[in-house]
Amino acid sequence: MQSWEDPIADARTGTSSANAPAVFIDSLALEKREQALGNSALGSRSAVVLECPQDLGGLREQSGDRERREGVTGLESIERGADRIQVDDKKIINCRADLNQLVPFKYEWAWQKYLDGCANHWMPQEINMTADIALWKNPEGLTEDERTIVKRNLGFFSTADSLVANNLVLALYRHITNPECRQYLLRQAFEEAVHTHAYQYCIESLGLDEGEVFNMYRELPAVAHKAEWALPYTNSLGDPDFKTGTLEDDQRLLRDLIAFYVVFEGIFFYVGFVQILSMGRRNKMTGVAEQFQYILRDESMHMNFGIDVINQIKLENPQLWTESFQQEIIMLVKQGVELESQYARDTMPRGILGLNAPMFEEYLKFIADRRYAQIGLPQQYSGVSNPFPWMSEILDLKKEKNFFETRVTEYQTGGALTW
Ligand SMILES: [Fe+2]
Ligand SMILES: [Fe+2]
Repeated sequence: MQSWEDPIADARTGTSSANAPAVFIDSLALEKREQALGNSALGSRSAVVLECPQDLGGLREQSGDRERREGVTGLESIERGADRIQVDDKKIINCRADLNQLVPFKYEWAWQKYLDGCANHWMPQEINMTADIALWKNPEGLTEDERTIVKRNLGFFSTADSLVANNLVLALYRHITNPECRQYLLRQAFEEAVHTHAYQYCIESLGLDEGEVFNMYRELPAVAHKAEWALPYTNSLGDPDFKTGTLEDDQRLLRDLIAFYVVFEGIFFYVGFVQILSMGRRNKMTGVAEQFQYILRDESMHMNFGIDVINQIKLENPQLWTESFQQEIIMLVKQGVELESQYARDTMPRGILGLNAPMFEEYLKFIADRRYAQIGLPQQYSGVSNPFPWMSEILDLKKEKNFFETRVTEYQTGGALTW
Protein backbone atom coordinates (compact mmCIF):
# COMPACT_ATOMS: atom_id res chain seq x y z
CA MET A 1 0.00 0.00 0.00
CA GLN A 2 1.10 3.50 -0.62
CA SER A 3 2.41 5.60 2.20
CA TRP A 4 1.62 8.89 0.57
CA GLU A 5 0.31 11.09 3.27
CA ASP A 6 -1.78 14.20 3.12
CA PRO A 7 0.73 16.63 4.57
CA ILE A 8 -1.91 18.76 6.16
CA ALA A 9 -4.61 16.30 7.05
CA ASP A 10 -3.25 15.61 10.51
CA ALA A 11 -3.21 19.28 11.26
CA ARG A 12 -6.97 19.36 10.96
CA THR A 13 -7.21 17.24 14.04
CA GLY A 14 -3.94 18.28 15.60
CA THR A 15 -3.56 20.45 18.58
CA SER A 16 -2.62 24.03 18.46
CA SER A 17 0.21 25.09 20.56
CA ALA A 18 2.74 27.43 21.80
CA ASN A 19 2.47 31.04 20.97
CA ALA A 20 5.39 32.64 19.31
CA PRO A 21 6.31 36.13 18.35
CA ALA A 22 5.00 37.14 14.97
CA VAL A 23 8.30 38.76 14.15
CA PHE A 24 10.17 36.21 12.15
CA ILE A 25 13.69 37.49 12.43
CA ASP A 26 15.56 39.54 14.90
CA SER A 27 19.20 40.29 15.20
CA LEU A 28 19.69 37.95 18.14
CA ALA A 29 18.29 35.04 16.19
CA LEU A 30 20.36 36.02 13.23
CA GLU A 31 23.49 36.08 15.32
CA LYS A 32 22.57 32.73 16.81
CA ARG A 33 22.09 31.26 13.38
CA GLU A 34 25.37 32.65 12.16
CA GLN A 35 27.14 31.12 15.10
CA ALA A 36 25.48 27.80 14.48
CA LEU A 37 26.48 28.00 10.85
CA GLY A 38 30.02 28.69 11.93
CA ASN A 39 30.10 31.67 9.62
CA SER A 40 31.44 34.81 11.16
CA ALA A 41 31.45 36.66 7.87
CA LEU A 42 27.72 36.35 7.50
CA GLY A 43 26.59 39.40 9.35
CA SER A 44 27.95 42.03 7.05
CA ARG A 45 26.23 40.52 4.06
CA SER A 46 22.98 39.52 5.65
CA ALA A 47 21.45 42.85 6.49
CA VAL A 48 19.58 43.18 3.23
CA VAL A 49 16.01 41.88 3.16
CA LEU A 50 16.62 38.49 4.70
CA GLU A 51 19.86 36.96 5.67
CA CYS A 52 21.33 34.78 2.98
CA PRO A 53 24.48 33.15 4.32
CA GLN A 54 27.10 32.92 1.63
CA ASP A 55 30.19 30.80 1.23
CA LEU A 56 29.38 28.49 4.08
CA GLY A 57 31.54 25.78 2.63
CA GLY A 58 34.66 27.88 2.49
CA LEU A 59 34.17 29.05 6.04
CA ARG A 60 33.35 25.68 7.47
CA GLU A 61 34.36 25.23 11.02
CA GLN A 62 37.31 22.95 11.39
CA SER A 63 36.71 19.99 13.62
CA GLY A 64 40.25 19.96 14.95
CA ASP A 65 41.04 17.04 17.17
CA ARG A 66 37.45 16.13 17.99
CA GLU A 67 36.56 12.55 17.31
CA ARG A 68 35.07 12.13 13.87
CA ARG A 69 32.76 9.21 13.06
CA GLU A 70 32.31 9.74 9.36
CA GLY A 71 30.63 7.07 7.28
CA VAL A 72 31.49 5.39 4.04
CA THR A 73 30.47 6.80 0.65
CA GLY A 74 30.32 3.68 -1.51
CA LEU A 75 33.62 4.48 -3.22
CA GLU A 76 35.76 2.44 -0.85
CA SER A 77 37.78 -0.43 -2.25
CA ILE A 78 36.06 -3.80 -2.15
CA GLU A 79 36.90 -5.75 0.96
CA ARG A 80 37.02 -9.40 0.04
CA GLY A 81 35.77 -11.81 2.66
CA ALA A 82 34.36 -9.11 4.93
CA ASP A 83 31.54 -10.04 7.28
CA ARG A 84 28.10 -10.00 5.69
CA ILE A 85 25.82 -7.02 6.28
CA GLN A 86 23.41 -7.27 9.20
CA VAL A 87 20.36 -5.04 9.54
CA ASP A 88 21.69 -3.55 12.73
CA ASP A 89 24.82 -2.41 10.91
CA LYS A 90 22.77 0.09 8.96
CA LYS A 91 22.46 3.79 9.85
CA ILE A 92 21.24 6.80 7.92
CA ILE A 93 24.38 8.83 8.53
CA ASN A 94 27.93 7.88 9.50
CA CYS A 95 27.34 4.22 8.63
CA ARG A 96 30.44 2.06 8.15
CA ALA A 97 28.66 -0.87 6.46
CA ASP A 98 28.95 -1.47 2.70
CA LEU A 99 26.54 0.85 0.87
CA ASN A 100 26.29 -1.20 -2.30
CA GLN A 101 24.02 -3.84 -0.79
CA LEU A 102 20.39 -2.81 -0.80
CA VAL A 103 19.15 -5.66 1.36
CA PRO A 104 18.50 -6.58 4.10
CA PHE A 105 16.25 -3.54 4.45
CA LYS A 106 16.32 -1.62 7.66
CA TYR A 107 14.20 1.37 6.62
CA GLU A 108 11.17 -0.22 4.96
CA TRP A 109 9.48 3.17 4.70
CA ALA A 110 12.24 4.42 2.38
CA TRP A 111 11.90 1.42 0.08
CA GLN A 112 8.10 1.76 0.12
CA LYS A 113 8.33 5.41 -0.89
CA TYR A 114 10.64 4.43 -3.72
CA LEU A 115 8.00 1.91 -4.91
CA ASP A 116 5.21 4.47 -4.52
CA GLY A 117 7.18 7.06 -6.44
CA CYS A 118 7.66 4.58 -9.28
CA ALA A 119 3.94 3.73 -9.22
CA ASN A 120 3.19 7.45 -9.66
CA HIS A 121 5.26 7.78 -12.79
CA TRP A 122 4.01 10.36 -15.27
CA MET A 123 5.41 12.48 -18.07
CA PRO A 124 4.50 16.09 -18.96
CA GLN A 125 3.74 15.49 -22.62
CA GLU A 126 0.87 13.15 -21.69
CA ILE A 127 -1.12 16.20 -20.62
CA ASN A 128 -3.16 18.05 -23.21
CA MET A 129 -2.24 21.73 -23.38
CA THR A 130 -4.56 22.71 -26.25
CA ALA A 131 -7.11 24.61 -24.17
CA ASP A 132 -4.32 26.49 -22.36
CA ILE A 133 -2.72 27.58 -25.61
CA ALA A 134 -6.05 28.88 -26.96
CA LEU A 135 -6.82 30.72 -23.74
CA TRP A 136 -3.34 32.24 -23.49
CA LYS A 137 -3.41 33.47 -27.09
CA ASN A 138 -6.89 34.96 -26.74
CA PRO A 139 -6.41 38.63 -25.75
CA GLU A 140 -9.63 38.43 -23.74
CA GLY A 141 -8.77 35.04 -22.25
CA LEU A 142 -7.07 36.11 -19.05
CA THR A 143 -6.58 39.28 -17.05
CA GLU A 144 -3.13 40.79 -16.69
CA ASP A 145 -3.06 39.70 -13.05
CA GLU A 146 -3.81 36.14 -14.05
CA ARG A 147 -1.07 36.22 -16.68
CA THR A 148 1.35 37.54 -14.07
CA ILE A 149 0.57 34.63 -11.77
CA VAL A 150 1.17 32.07 -14.52
CA LYS A 151 4.44 33.65 -15.62
CA ARG A 152 5.86 34.20 -12.14
CA ASN A 153 5.10 30.70 -11.01
CA LEU A 154 6.66 29.22 -14.11
CA GLY A 155 9.58 31.57 -13.43
CA PHE A 156 10.00 30.36 -9.87
CA PHE A 157 9.42 26.67 -10.45
CA SER A 158 11.40 26.34 -13.68
CA THR A 159 14.62 26.87 -11.74
CA ALA A 160 13.50 25.80 -8.24
CA ASP A 161 13.44 22.12 -9.10
CA SER A 162 16.93 22.41 -10.50
CA LEU A 163 18.07 23.82 -7.15
CA VAL A 164 16.46 20.88 -5.36
CA ALA A 165 18.06 18.38 -7.76
CA ASN A 166 21.46 20.02 -7.28
CA ASN A 167 21.07 19.75 -3.54
CA LEU A 168 20.27 16.05 -3.87
CA VAL A 169 23.04 15.00 -6.21
CA LEU A 170 25.80 17.50 -5.44
CA ALA A 171 25.38 17.83 -1.69
CA LEU A 172 23.10 15.38 0.08
CA TYR A 173 23.56 12.01 -1.60
CA ARG A 174 27.18 11.50 -0.57
CA HIS A 175 26.37 11.93 3.11
CA ILE A 176 23.31 9.67 3.32
CA THR A 177 24.91 6.34 4.16
CA ASN A 178 21.99 4.01 3.57
CA PRO A 179 21.21 2.26 0.29
CA GLU A 180 17.41 2.17 0.57
CA CYS A 181 17.35 5.92 1.27
CA ARG A 182 19.75 6.46 -1.61
CA GLN A 183 17.41 4.50 -3.83
CA TYR A 184 14.63 6.98 -3.02
CA LEU A 185 16.99 9.93 -3.56
CA LEU A 186 17.75 8.63 -7.04
CA ARG A 187 14.03 8.31 -7.79
CA GLN A 188 13.42 11.80 -6.41
CA ALA A 189 16.24 13.22 -8.53
CA PHE A 190 14.55 11.83 -11.63
CA GLU A 191 11.21 13.26 -10.53
CA GLU A 192 12.82 16.68 -10.15
CA ALA A 193 14.00 16.34 -13.74
CA VAL A 194 10.42 15.49 -14.77
CA HIS A 195 9.19 18.60 -12.97
CA THR A 196 11.71 20.86 -14.67
CA HIS A 197 10.61 19.21 -17.93
CA ALA A 198 6.95 19.95 -17.06
CA TYR A 199 7.63 23.64 -16.48
CA GLN A 200 9.67 23.87 -19.65
CA TYR A 201 6.84 22.12 -21.52
CA CYS A 202 4.33 24.70 -20.23
CA ILE A 203 6.65 27.57 -21.16
CA GLU A 204 7.17 26.16 -24.64
CA SER A 205 3.48 25.37 -25.17
CA LEU A 206 2.40 28.89 -24.26
CA GLY A 207 5.17 30.46 -26.32
CA LEU A 208 6.52 32.43 -23.37
CA ASP A 209 9.81 34.30 -23.53
CA GLU A 210 12.15 31.59 -22.24
CA GLY A 211 14.90 34.05 -21.36
CA GLU A 212 12.49 36.09 -19.24
CA VAL A 213 11.02 33.10 -17.44
CA PHE A 214 14.22 31.17 -16.75
CA ASN A 215 16.03 34.30 -15.58
CA MET A 216 13.38 35.35 -13.06
CA TYR A 217 15.29 33.70 -10.24
CA ARG A 218 18.08 36.17 -10.92
CA GLU A 219 16.02 39.17 -11.92
CA LEU A 220 12.80 39.21 -9.92
CA PRO A 221 13.37 39.87 -6.21
CA ALA A 222 10.53 37.75 -4.79
CA VAL A 223 11.73 34.75 -6.80
CA ALA A 224 15.42 35.46 -6.25
CA HIS A 225 15.07 35.72 -2.47
CA LYS A 226 13.82 32.17 -2.17
CA ALA A 227 16.60 30.75 -4.35
CA GLU A 228 19.23 32.83 -2.54
CA TRP A 229 17.96 31.65 0.79
CA ALA A 230 18.36 27.98 -0.13
CA LEU A 231 21.61 27.87 -2.07
CA PRO A 232 24.00 28.38 0.86
CA TYR A 233 22.72 25.17 2.43
CA THR A 234 23.71 23.25 -0.70
CA ASN A 235 27.07 25.00 -0.76
CA SER A 236 27.59 24.09 2.86
CA LEU A 237 27.47 20.36 2.10
CA GLY A 238 28.83 20.62 -1.42
CA ASP A 239 32.27 21.55 -0.13
CA PRO A 240 34.40 18.58 -1.26
CA ASP A 241 36.13 18.57 2.12
CA PHE A 242 32.91 18.43 4.09
CA LYS A 243 32.32 15.24 6.04
CA THR A 244 29.80 14.29 8.66
CA GLY A 245 30.86 12.69 11.91
CA THR A 246 31.04 15.51 14.44
CA LEU A 247 28.18 17.20 16.26
CA GLU A 248 28.59 20.40 14.26
CA ASP A 249 28.87 18.68 10.91
CA ASP A 250 25.97 16.31 11.55
CA GLN A 251 23.88 19.33 12.51
CA ARG A 252 24.96 20.94 9.28
CA LEU A 253 23.55 17.99 7.35
CA LEU A 254 20.34 18.08 9.37
CA ARG A 255 20.03 21.80 8.70
CA ASP A 256 20.29 21.22 4.95
CA LEU A 257 17.64 18.50 5.12
CA ILE A 258 15.25 20.78 6.99
CA ALA A 259 15.97 23.76 4.73
CA PHE A 260 15.18 21.78 1.60
CA TYR A 261 12.57 19.21 2.60
CA VAL A 262 10.64 21.20 5.17
CA VAL A 263 11.02 24.79 3.94
CA PHE A 264 11.85 24.71 0.25
CA GLU A 265 9.63 21.79 -0.79
CA GLY A 266 7.25 22.07 2.16
CA ILE A 267 6.57 25.83 2.20
CA PHE A 268 8.11 27.62 -0.79
CA PHE A 269 6.03 25.63 -3.28
CA TYR A 270 2.66 26.16 -1.73
CA VAL A 271 1.65 29.69 -2.78
CA GLY A 272 2.36 28.74 -6.39
CA PHE A 273 0.49 25.47 -6.07
CA VAL A 274 -2.60 27.18 -4.63
CA GLN A 275 -2.54 29.97 -7.21
CA ILE A 276 -2.25 27.69 -10.24
CA LEU A 277 -4.66 25.09 -8.90
CA SER A 278 -7.15 27.90 -8.19
CA MET A 279 -7.03 28.81 -11.85
CA GLY A 280 -7.68 25.19 -12.77
CA ARG A 281 -10.66 25.08 -10.43
CA ARG A 282 -12.09 28.00 -12.41
CA ASN A 283 -11.51 26.17 -15.66
CA LYS A 284 -8.57 28.34 -16.63
CA MET A 285 -5.17 26.97 -17.70
CA THR A 286 -6.34 23.46 -16.93
CA GLY A 287 -3.35 21.81 -18.61
CA VAL A 288 -0.87 23.81 -16.56
CA ALA A 289 -2.98 23.12 -13.48
CA GLU A 290 -2.99 19.40 -14.22
CA GLN A 291 0.80 19.42 -14.48
CA PHE A 292 0.94 21.17 -11.11
CA GLN A 293 -1.48 18.66 -9.63
CA TYR A 294 0.84 15.77 -10.39
CA ILE A 295 3.87 17.73 -9.27
CA LEU A 296 2.13 18.53 -5.98
CA ARG A 297 1.58 14.84 -5.38
CA ASP A 298 5.25 14.07 -6.03
CA GLU A 299 6.41 16.98 -3.88
CA SER A 300 4.24 15.90 -1.02
CA MET A 301 5.97 12.53 -1.05
CA HIS A 302 9.41 14.14 -1.27
CA MET A 303 8.63 16.19 1.78
CA ASN A 304 7.33 13.21 3.70
CA PHE A 305 10.40 11.18 2.84
CA GLY A 306 12.61 14.04 4.03
CA ILE A 307 10.68 14.29 7.28
CA ASP A 308 11.10 10.55 7.86
CA VAL A 309 14.85 10.89 7.26
CA ILE A 310 15.09 13.88 9.61
CA ASN A 311 13.20 12.05 12.35
CA GLN A 312 15.26 8.88 11.91
CA ILE A 313 18.49 10.87 12.18
CA LYS A 314 17.13 12.49 15.34
CA LEU A 315 16.27 9.08 16.73
CA GLU A 316 19.70 7.64 16.02
CA ASN A 317 21.58 10.80 17.05
CA PRO A 318 19.60 12.50 19.82
CA GLN A 319 22.63 14.58 20.78
CA LEU A 320 22.13 16.67 17.62
CA TRP A 321 18.75 18.00 18.69
CA THR A 322 20.01 20.54 21.18
CA GLU A 323 17.86 23.32 22.54
CA SER A 324 19.80 25.95 20.61
CA PHE A 325 19.55 23.90 17.41
CA GLN A 326 15.78 23.58 17.88
CA GLN A 327 15.51 27.34 18.32
CA GLU A 328 17.52 27.86 15.19
CA ILE A 329 15.23 25.52 13.22
CA ILE A 330 12.14 27.29 14.53
CA MET A 331 13.57 30.54 13.15
CA LEU A 332 14.54 28.90 9.88
CA VAL A 333 10.95 27.79 9.24
CA LYS A 334 9.68 31.26 10.18
CA GLN A 335 12.00 32.75 7.59
CA GLY A 336 10.44 30.41 5.06
CA VAL A 337 6.94 31.59 6.01
CA GLU A 338 7.99 35.23 5.69
CA LEU A 339 9.71 34.77 2.33
CA GLU A 340 6.77 32.87 0.93
CA SER A 341 4.33 35.48 2.27
CA GLN A 342 6.37 38.11 0.45
CA TYR A 343 6.16 35.99 -2.68
CA ALA A 344 2.36 35.91 -2.30
CA ARG A 345 2.23 39.69 -1.95
CA ASP A 346 4.46 40.22 -4.97
CA THR A 347 2.65 37.79 -7.22
CA MET A 348 -0.81 39.12 -6.41
CA PRO A 349 -0.69 42.74 -5.29
CA ARG A 350 -4.44 42.90 -5.89
CA GLY A 351 -6.72 40.04 -4.93
CA ILE A 352 -7.85 37.81 -7.76
CA LEU A 353 -9.57 34.44 -8.12
CA GLY A 354 -11.14 34.96 -4.71
CA LEU A 355 -7.65 34.93 -3.20
CA ASN A 356 -5.61 37.60 -1.52
CA ALA A 357 -2.24 37.84 0.15
CA PRO A 358 -3.53 37.76 3.77
CA MET A 359 -5.24 34.43 3.05
CA PHE A 360 -1.89 33.07 1.93
CA GLU A 361 -0.20 34.33 5.08
CA GLU A 362 -2.72 32.41 7.14
CA TYR A 363 -2.34 29.33 4.98
CA LEU A 364 1.45 29.43 5.26
CA LYS A 365 1.26 29.69 9.04
CA PHE A 366 -1.18 26.79 9.03
CA ILE A 367 1.13 24.53 7.04
CA ALA A 368 4.20 25.76 8.94
CA ASP A 369 2.60 24.59 12.18
CA ARG A 370 2.05 21.24 10.52
CA ARG A 371 5.73 21.13 9.54
CA TYR A 372 6.82 21.99 13.09
CA ALA A 373 4.72 19.18 14.48
CA GLN A 374 6.07 16.74 11.91
CA ILE A 375 9.65 17.26 13.05
CA GLY A 376 8.83 17.39 16.74
CA LEU A 377 8.91 21.12 17.36
CA PRO A 378 6.21 23.19 19.06
CA GLN A 379 3.74 24.88 16.76
CA GLN A 380 4.30 28.61 16.55
CA TYR A 381 1.11 30.15 15.19
CA SER A 382 -1.92 29.79 17.34
CA GLY A 383 -5.44 30.13 16.05
CA VAL A 384 -4.73 29.82 12.35
CA SER A 385 -6.97 27.76 10.14
CA ASN A 386 -6.79 26.50 6.59
CA PRO A 387 -8.37 29.01 4.19
CA PHE A 388 -7.99 26.55 1.30
CA PRO A 389 -9.64 23.32 2.42
CA TRP A 390 -9.99 22.30 -1.23
CA MET A 391 -6.23 21.78 -1.31
CA SER A 392 -6.81 18.84 0.99
CA GLU A 393 -9.48 17.63 -1.41
CA ILE A 394 -6.92 17.58 -4.21
CA LEU A 395 -4.44 15.77 -2.03
CA ASP A 396 -7.08 13.25 -1.00
CA LEU A 397 -8.28 12.67 -4.54
CA LYS A 398 -8.29 9.21 -5.97
CA LYS A 399 -5.72 8.87 -8.66
CA GLU A 400 -8.06 7.82 -11.41
CA LYS A 401 -10.13 10.99 -11.13
CA ASN A 402 -8.58 14.12 -12.43
CA PHE A 403 -9.50 17.08 -10.29
CA PHE A 404 -10.06 19.34 -13.27
CA GLU A 405 -11.97 16.73 -15.17
CA THR A 406 -10.07 17.39 -18.35
CA ARG A 407 -9.92 13.66 -18.85
CA VAL A 408 -10.14 10.39 -17.05
CA THR A 409 -6.71 9.02 -16.58
CA GLU A 410 -4.79 6.37 -14.79
CA TYR A 411 -1.15 7.13 -14.37
CA GLN A 412 -0.46 4.51 -11.82
CA THR A 413 1.85 1.93 -13.21
CA GLY A 414 2.54 -0.40 -10.36
CA GLY A 415 -0.95 -1.15 -9.11
CA ALA A 416 0.01 -0.24 -5.57
CA LEU A 417 -1.53 3.16 -5.17
CA THR A 418 -5.00 3.49 -3.75
CA TRP A 419 -5.41 7.21 -3.22
FE1 LIG B 1 10.06 18.96 -7.88
FE1 LIG C 1 10.75 17.74 -4.89
